[in-house]
Amino acid sequence: MRILVLNGPNLNLLGTREQTVYGSETMQDIETFLRQTAQTLNAEIVFKQSNSESALIDEIHASRDGFDGIIINPAAYTHTSIAIMDAIAGVGVPAVEVHLSNIHARESFRHTSYPARVCVGQICGFGKMSYELGLRALVHRLSK
Ligand code: DQA
Repeated sequence: MRILVLNGPNLNLLGTREQTVYGSETMQDIETFLRQTAQTLNAEIVFKQSNSESALIDEIHASRDGFDGIIINPAAYTHTSIAIMDAIAGVGVPAVEVHLSNIHARESFRHTSYPARVCVGQICGFGKMSYELGLRALVHRLSK
């Protein structure tokens, strides 16, 4: 099983960015952590980050070729991007949305997620464990 793990804008700053909200671990730390889970699930992950909405959309389109599912943290595009929502719906590759923070406990503009409307589900608030839980849930769904 091949899973694309997509990360949106500013997540490359993890480790130094708003540590009280996002903790001190870097994207690389999260990738290393998730690779361990992936191994136990017999899943292969490809881990990517982009600050560009169009690059994220291109990755979603390309995922039709060779990926069984997507884990996506769209970051701030969660709250603005109808285009990312349409891309996920358009390709029909099952996706799970994840967030490090609990977006529902933060500012009201973070309570809305466009992509979540077309995802299998959303996991938020567990730090890097959100990625692990998302991957487990997606692999479980794909194995049915
Ligand atoms: C985030 C939550 C978003 O609201 C925010 O814009 C981010 C990170 C998270 O993982 O908690 O950049 O997606």
